[in-house]
Amino acid sequence: MTLSQEAEAPADEVVLEAIGLSKHFPVRRKLRDLFNRTHDAVHAVDDVNLILRRGRVTALVGESGSGKSTVARLLAQLYPRTDGDIKLHGLSTRVRGGRQFRRYAARVQMIFQDPFASLNPVHTIRYHLTRSLKIHGNAGTNAEELEAALASLLNRVHLTPPERYLDKFPHELSGGQRQRVAIARALGADPEALLADEPVSMLDVSIRLGVLNLLRDLKERLNLAILYITHDIASARYFADDTMVMYAGRMVEGGDSETVTQSPAHPYTQLLIDSAPDPDRIENLLGDHADRGNGEPPSLINPPSGCRFHPRCPMAMPRCSRELPTRLEIGDQPGHWAACWLYDPATVAAEKPGSAAVDYSPEAVAVAENAHPEEVR
Ligand SMILES: Nc1ncnc2c1ncn2[C@@H]1O[C@H](COP(=O)(O)OP(=O)(O)O)[C@@H](O)[C@H]1O
Ligand SMILES: [Mg+2]
Repeated sequence: MTLSQEAEAPADEVVLEAIGLSKHFPVRRKLRDLFNRTHDAVHAVDDVNLILRRGRVTALVGESGSGKSTVARLLAQLYPRTDGDIKLHGLSTRVRGGRQFRRYAARVQMIFQDPFASLNPVHTIRYHLTRSLKIHGNAGTNAEELEAALASLLNRVHLTPPERYLDKFPHELSGGQRQRVAIARALGADPEALLADEPVSMLDVSIRLGVLNLLRDLKERLNLAILYITHDIASARYFADDTMVMYAGRMVEGGDSETVTQSPAHPYTQLLIDSAPDPDRIENLLGDHADRGNGEPPSLINPPSGCRFHPRCPMAMPRCSRELPTRLEIGDQPGHWAACWLYDPATVAAEKPGSAAVDYSPEAVAVAENAHPEEVR
């Protein structure tokens, strides 16, 4: 395997870009739906914009069902998209069929949540890694070169000495070791981008950090662009350079991880952070802050109008159920934005003149609303 490609590419170079990406899954619930014209669809992903850069980890955070895996699968070209574009190095790409897919997969690799399901139990580690190296033309020209490439893959994911692991079967390894093999297999393609879909959420808490540190190390050494999908916003802060927050199929906030996690702007991000650091405790997720709604993510067949978070939002204004919020700059740090009407200058201007800090308490927002005739219900 060569590292020349990585060494030459400048850090921060845009590798992969999603523009207005959407995915609707058709649903047909009854036979008679076949004969009428209405086609229901799950609006799993709508109008998602995302950029992956070399040498950077971008986290995609949101609760279960928010569309994170669908975004990853679209970016990996495992699904055709309903709308929008995916650009690889600025070139629009739409993959159809085996050879095109293989060429794309040589540059964009995916790592799945469950390392046991993603490895074939009847094959050894050697088989999995050899196959990946061969498919992508990185296996060398003779047995020695192949052996060296295999050893180098296992060394990279810190499974050493390699000969201890090569001839094992997946069930002989721990969950963390299996996920390292899955990462090594992805590296067998010598990719530029890794799409990691909740790569540590099925692992024991005690070994999660080790796998995240490995990914960070690979990002730095191989100058990889990494999409890190998680429902755990605390881990995004630890591990990701940039963080994007998704709710019910739409992006609601983005910026550098420090800013998004320390000064969250969108009420949904605030809810996620208040329910950290223990996202596994469901009662936390459904805590005080969800008191405006029933705390459930909405149906994606008939998503809420306007801002999809409005039924659950403690700050919701009348406008929020009518108009889809656009990306608005927060202004505290460059690149920090939220799709939330609280940050619309029109809302801000309605605050009392002379007040330095904007007061976003529900009372203050209600006052601001009333000052705007068009905002009154
Ligand atoms: N193949 C599919 N067919 C129909 N609906 C799907 C399919 N895949 C995902 N969905 C729906 O799309 C929404 C988003 O799912 P997903 O992307 O898996 O979310 P997440 O990874 O954030 O948990 C969910 O409502 C899910 O039920
Ligand atoms: Mg998922």
